[in-house]
Amino acid sequence: MDPLQQYEDFANAALTALSAATDTAAVEAARIEFLGKKSGRIKTLQDLLGKATAEQRPALGAKFNEVRQRVTAALEARQQELAKPKASLTGIDISLPGEQIRLGRRHPLTQTMDEFRDIIGRMGFTVAYGPELEDEWHNFEALNIPADHPARDPLENFYLATAQAVSGGPVLLRSQTSTVQIRVMEKSKPPIRIVSLGRVYRPDTIDATHSCMFHQMEGLMIGSDVTMAQLKTTLRLFATTYLGRDVTIRFRPSFFPFTEPSVEVDMSWGQGWMEIGGAGMVDPNVLRAVGFDPEEVSGFAFGFGIERFCMRRHNIKDIRRFTENDVRFLSQF
Ligand code: PHE
Repeated sequence: MDPLQQYEDFANAALTALSAATDTAAVEAARIEFLGKKSGRIKTLQDLLGKATAEQRPALGAKFNEVRQRVTAALEARQQELAKPKASLTGIDISLPGEQIRLGRRHPLTQTMDEFRDIIGRMGFTVAYGPELEDEWHNFEALNIPADHPARDPLENFYLATAQAVSGGPVLLRSQTSTVQIRVMEKSKPPIRIVSLGRVYRPDTIDATHSCMFHQMEGLMIGSDVTMAQLKTTLRLFATTYLGRDVTIRFRPSFFPFTEPSVEVDMSWGQGWMEIGGAGMVDPNVLRAVGFDPEEVSGFAFGFGIERFCMRRHNIKDIRRFTENDVRFLSQF
């Protein structure tokens, strides 16, 4: 038989076997049968080449190479094809890249609060929780805010009309997280070192820096000799850790019924100052309200507005952005 024809027959048989192979084992069997180094059918073709005359050899050699390449290429193609995962649904090529899914992300305030817990946690504060619906004892009485105090004006608070009947006393949306100070002290003994982060509600007129709902981080440290110096160090360290070393923190004498002495805390922002919270040494009346002896223990407390920290960090100019739910805003963080 014409050796060229034998080469062609070899190629045809190999290609047929490969396309009939439906799994990798069958492809491997075909490879051994046709291209196998020891006893593959390609050996016969090599022998033919060996026996060829000098003038047949160039044409035969070229054909040999061509045939071997064709079969090798078909083999590799088949191997790759079978290695691909099979689509279980017709019409779907699962080997194609998928459509891009836009992932959601955590709200900037959630990110800020996570970071707050992290920073203050490193200073030894654990996290405590309290309810957003409060009674007057925790929101006012125990915090040394008497009934005639202007902060208790119904117009300054969100009282709930219906909850009152259920609980027996007036119920309001808490106006400050200082409520959690009381709740923690009622349940635990000094030393205490906690923070509590969450929402507070005030019927403020809404503008770029005020909202009727915002977030606070309350801090409380009670021990046998807690000092104002420790309070200032804690707050300054916390603020510069979150905002960076270039921020200046300022303490101004102030008044809160539940701390004595009291300070208001400001941070530098641009050319001016922005108030970020209040703080002070826990008033003896508050310690007594929860059954602690002011002669035995002292403590400091602070309350920070979380939005304003986040606004300064990210240069957000309007507090309303946080609650508008505009993805163009939210996706930047
Ligand atoms: N609760 C105060 C406020 O909301 C802040 C504060 C907390 C002040 C703790 C002193 C101590 O304005």
